[in-house]
Amino acid sequence: MQVKAKRCFFGVRASVIMLASWMLLSTPAWSAEVETIDWSSISDASPRLFYPGQSSYQWLRSDEHKKASNETKSGEACLQCHKGEQKSLGGILVVENRLEPDPIEDKEGYKRLKVRAAHDATYLYLRFSWKSDGDRVGDQGTFMRFDGTEWSWYGNHRQHEAVIDEEQPAIYPDRLGIMMGDSQVPIYSEQGCWLTCHEALVGMPDEADEDEVAEHPVISQLYKDFGIINRYVRKYLPGSRSEGTDWDAVKTADELKALRNEGGFLDLIIWDAALTNPGGFAADFNVLEMKQVDAGKSPLLPNGKMLAGPALMFDSAKLGYSVLTEADLDDASKSKYLVVGSSTVPVSGTFKEGDILPAHIIDKTAADGSAMDVDYARGTWEDGTYTLVMRRKLDTGHPEDDLIMQPGGIYSFSFSIHDNATGKRAHLVSFPVTVSIGPGTADIQAATLP
Ligand code: HEC
Repeated sequence: MQVKAKRCFFGVRASVIMLASWMLLSTPAWSAEVETIDWSSISDASPRLFYPGQSSYQWLRSDEHKKASNETKSGEACLQCHKGEQKSLGGILVVENRLEPDPIEDKEGYKRLKVRAAHDATYLYLRFSWKSDGDRVGDQGTFMRFDGTEWSWYGNHRQHEAVIDEEQPAIYPDRLGIMMGDSQVPIYSEQGCWLTCHEALVGMPDEADEDEVAEHPVISQLYKDFGIINRYVRKYLPGSRSEGTDWDAVKTADELKALRNEGGFLDLIIWDAALTNPGGFAADFNVLEMKQVDAGKSPLLPNGKMLAGPALMFDSAKLGYSVLTEADLDDASKSKYLVVGSSTVPVSGTFKEGDILPAHIIDKTAADGSAMDVDYARGTWEDGTYTLVMRRKLDTGHPEDDLIMQPGGIYSFSFSIHDNATGKRAHLVSFPVTVSIGPGTADIQAATLP
């Protein structure tokens, strides 16, 4: 019941909107179930999360990774050598060092994530809590501002050039990521998310050339459904590449399909305080040749053509305003999200200089398929601590882009936290932990619900 009681911390007005959209769009039968779980009888596991800097797949296999490159190449577990070192690694890596050229002022390099897990015949339920670095809820998402002529991005993450140069404010949503896999992905259980982190990724030392990415037949296609050309390389698995681990050496469609059919990809859930929480869900991705949203229709969508013209604005008849201003972003009574079905109307009239609108919308009305598998994820923030409860079917029925779990099974999870307006690689991450569905020899054991 904690979830319900604390919902108001996202701002009084926003919580009314959230509640309204929740009543409008959800089926009471399932939400009652998840909200009555007695978490007090389940004990916390506390995985250690630390700041990884630019410790990429390639760096870990280079001589720079002292006397460990061969072991890492041969698949030895990070924890084999780094057990109990997360706090010191985080402390070293979060300040300026060989793996961190752009340190973030006052960033904490280490934290514990509290995790409780439960399951029944159908669902895995997870309850998280963690302390965030920010002194307020991180529910400001992605915004664009009209300058009288055109729209441009407003705000960015703290390692972005424009924020470092003080041309843009530091605005970026808080997030929790859960990466999940099993032995079908070679050495994932040993080396976790480091398998997906490469030198060519955005924000990494050998970031791929934007034009080359835009011309790549596969990687450029990430957002093709929205008419947007992708210019950045995001997480990928080494097994998806034909020559070594080069970002552009993507295997053929047939080879990728074969890997997918064998379950040789990772499942990735991202809960976002601004972009998914107001809709009560979490985004469902998978990682093989690139990080992409699962099949079906995601409720998280671009607002129209984004910089080329938003489609939706706030409903002034309900809220008293149709756009935001810079000052409104710090006003807890103003909604920061466009949730279709509660607070939005199609854009009309003309915009004036300084008008701000969310760059994304949440539309659960058309959401469907694998992209909607995490159909319950509700978090609250109070006095610096997030509490988040989510559920997901053990067998989602979507083996082509989800990890299929079953009672008695043991899986490998890795966690990440972005907070206080940090983005891209500036997260804290865990070494992989084991999760059992029911009693088992695992770091996190999902309690079997009566
Ligand atoms: C065979 C043992 C071994 C394995 C396996 C191993 N490491 Fe290391 N790692 C080391 C040693 C030794 C160092 C050097 C420590 C030092 O410089 O003080 C190191 C250094 C590092 C550093 C740099 C820390 C610093 O002080 O700059 C990072 C980051 C790191 N390892 C991450 C990992 C990750 C992630 C994995 C798994 C993918 C991993 N290591 C696997 C032994 C290992």
